[in-house]
Amino acid sequence: MHQNSEQVNRIALVTGASKGLGAAIAARLADTGLAVAVNYHRDRSGAEAVVEHIMAAGGRAEAFQADVTDAYGVNALVEAVSLRMGAPTVLVNNATGPQPFIPIERQQWDDYQAQLDFFLKAPFLLLQRVLPQMKSAGFGRVINIGSEVVELGNAEFSHYVAAKAAMLGVTRSWATELGVHGITVNLVAPGWIPVKRHEGTPQSELEAYCAGLPLNRMGKPIEVGDAVAFLASDRSGFITGQRIAVNGGKTLS
Ligand SMILES: NC(=O)c1ccc[n+]([C@@H]2O[C@H](COP(=O)([O-])OP(=O)(O)OC[C@H]3O[C@@H](n4cnc5c(N)ncnc54)[C@H](OP(=O)(O)O)[C@@H]3O)[C@@H](O)[C@H]2O)c1
Repeated sequence: MHQNSEQVNRIALVTGASKGLGAAIAARLADTGLAVAVNYHRDRSGAEAVVEHIMAAGGRAEAFQADVTDAYGVNALVEAVSLRMGAPTVLVNNATGPQPFIPIERQQWDDYQAQLDFFLKAPFLLLQRVLPQMKSAGFGRVINIGSEVVELGNAEFSHYVAAKAAMLGVTRSWATELGVHGITVNLVAPGWIPVKRHEGTPQSELEAYCAGLPLNRMGKPIEVGDAVAFLASDRSGFITGQRIAVNGGKTLS
């Protein structure tokens, strides 16, 4: 564990941290000395396993159930984290629902709304709720987990792409508005990083994806965690409003 004494009293809230990238982000933030609120929706045992893993490594973490697409859920979540751990000044908007591919003829507006609820509504509700404490601390880190699909424009995925594009837009706007308070807002855009829900993907599909990458391999969840941990730290204090791709160089802008 690489504790950074400046970070020891800070609380990070990671949404959707019971598995996948969120679990790796939570573990990596804890490694750097942050106390981590591990949010989950349905997978309580997954969240508890993440907490146990962090505590076994000497870190601090607690699990918090909440639906982050719901205003009441967000209010209760931030209140519970603040009471049990302290007010979060690091917010990682990571949670996602299902991500179906749907040809445009079969898409419904609800498909767009469902993605916007995760990637625009939830981050907005959470930011509003944690902002007063960030402002009074004169410090805040908001890290939105976007996606390379905004640059790639994947077919049959425009509902997801649109919502991730919206997330990038608010990242920039919030960064401009909140910088004066010592709050940075950035977006980490992963490429395809296999997690549990990708189990069973044919090897040929993974190889085809790797073939298009300068680094010629799949990424690992902890590599997203590393980028987030850097952006959450004091070492990133002069970086705001940026999109950082963690995708082996697949997109070059
Ligand atoms: N993995 C990739 O290849 C990849 C690529 C680009 C971008 N991303 C982005 O990275 C983020 C994480 O993706 P992932 O692949 O790690 O997903 P994942 O493994 O499917 O995990 C999703 C997480 O979101 C949580 N969640 C679902 N509904 C929720 C709700 N209403 N409120 C709070 N939490 C909720 C889940 O909690 P429960 O299980 O407890 O219900 C789970 O912890 C997403 O924003 C995704 O768009 C992923």
